[in-house]
Amino acid sequence: MNNNYLSLITNRLILRPFTLSDVDLLCLLAGDRRISDMCLNIPYPYSPENGVSWISEHKDAFIEKKAVIFAVCQKDNGDLLGAIGLELEKSDKRGEIGYWIGYPYQNKGYATEAVLAMLQYGFRTLSLNRITATTIAWNNVSARILDKTGFQKEGVLRNHVFKKGKFTDIVMWGILQDEFMDNVIN
Ligand SMILES: CC(C)(COP(=O)(O)OP(=O)(O)OC[C@H]1O[C@@H](n2cnc3c(N)ncnc32)[C@H](O)[C@@H]1OP(=O)(O)O)[C@@H](O)C(=O)NCCC(=O)NCCS
Repeated sequence: MNNNYLSLITNRLILRPFTLSDVDLLCLLAGDRRISDMCLNIPYPYSPENGVSWISEHKDAFIEKKAVIFAVCQKDNGDLLGAIGLELEKSDKRGEIGYWIGYPYQNKGYATEAVLAMLQYGFRTLSLNRITATTIAWNNVSARILDKTGFQKEGVLRNHVFKKGKFTDIVMWGILQDEFMDNVIN
């Protein structure tokens, strides 16, 4: 991993670093309760200060090899659709993936496309050995994406978080580099 914060290109998407000019749209999309309800680390309400401070951390986190976060954008018109990132544990060659797609853009396959691009990037470019994900128990959409991109369900943390007024299970997912490579080749 060098210090060049590149962009990733897929059929329909560009995954590129966030800039401060994304703050307004970021607040609009990430500030939707339907996003924060499903995520463990997105505040509600989502203020411009939240957006500025989050985006401002990305460059150093990348240089220090702690995280790589991309804005998910439409390739043809550049519109911001969502976000995807890997939090890195460099010494273990491991990353934790997280993502969201703004409500108006959901159910068009964008998250699946972005997750596959991040798996390629994590396993091939960053040479990670393992990528993990966590989902809130009722997040069937994210579970579907992880399942179809090759993650295995590895365990359940019972009553792990207090969400929407009740204790809720967290499901742990993982995929290993050789499993991903086998899938890509076959
Ligand atoms: C999860 C999320 C990123 C999915 O984004 P998306 O771009 O709509 O996802 P995709 O279109 O690539 O795939 C959605 C899949 O879920 C399926 N799906 C949709 N609604 C579903 C439901 N209620 N139950 C089960 N599966 C469902 C779709 O059919 C599709 O699967 P398919 O391609 O096999 O038909 C988006 O809903 C989101 O941002 N949610 C809030 C934040 C979040 O949950 N982030 C993940 C935290 S782990």
